[in-house]
Amino acid sequence: MAGHSPRLRLGVNIDHVATLRNARGGAHPDPLRAAQLALAAGADGITAHLREDRRHIDDRDLAALIDAKIPVNLEMAATDEMLKIALASRPAWCCLVPEHREERTTEGGLNVVGNANWLKTVVASLKRARISVSLFIEPDPRQIEAARDLGAEAVELHTGAWSNAVEGGNRDESGRLLAALQNAAREASRAGIEVHAGHGLGFANAGPVAAIPEIVELQIGHFLIGEAVFSGLEATIRQMRKLMDDSR
Ligand code: PXP
Repeated sequence: MAGHSPRLRLGVNIDHVATLRNARGGAHPDPLRAAQLALAAGADGITAHLREDRRHIDDRDLAALIDAKIPVNLEMAATDEMLKIALASRPAWCCLVPEHREERTTEGGLNVVGNANWLKTVVASLKRARISVSLFIEPDPRQIEAARDLGAEAVELHTGAWSNAVEGGNRDESGRLLAALQNAAREASRAGIEVHAGHGLGFANAGPVAAIPEIVELQIGHFLIGEAVFSGLEATIRQMRKLMDDSR
């Protein structure tokens, strides 16, 4: 297709390799091995969400990724505990997300407007340590403005509602949500903020998001790890890489 937009980066979230490992409590499958394979297959970075309850990735996994010089995007809640861990481990990126103990996965974007004071402190501390910061937000102009005021390098637009609408076959809703993502990407880019997107993306719905020219990075986890059961991680990532490149 077109081919005028900058190359789209792929961040592979390996949390669910750890979920599978933790189901038996041993060492297999190893998230570090998955990270190395993902990078060899065309991923540009690796994302790991260190949750308060350590339900998938744990502190040793994060240390192993950092020791192996993997380009890590550490997804985390903006808590004192996580800030301390991030400053000590120094990933390339931190993506700040809301976190609730009961949720199955991250549900909705961060309320940057409502938590600006605290987030400002967290973003400043991370940036002082030369860690780039992205804020996971809904495609909402008020959140983008607040992210810019905080000095975040990037926003990650939440694509979860879009992916649900596509899966549910709801054309009106998916059209409306895609337009919201397109507008938000344009506004963020105009404000000088790098635009990432993710959540719920897979072969069936990543194309239209990948085609948004201001988006420079997709974050994808659950689908890739699940599909790898059938096709292998390397082939799955190569196929997603091709889909993304063909959409630009
Ligand atoms: N981006 C963020 C901020 C997330 O919380 C997640 C899920 O961990 C993802 C991207 C990846 O979503 P999925 O696993 O649905 O691809």
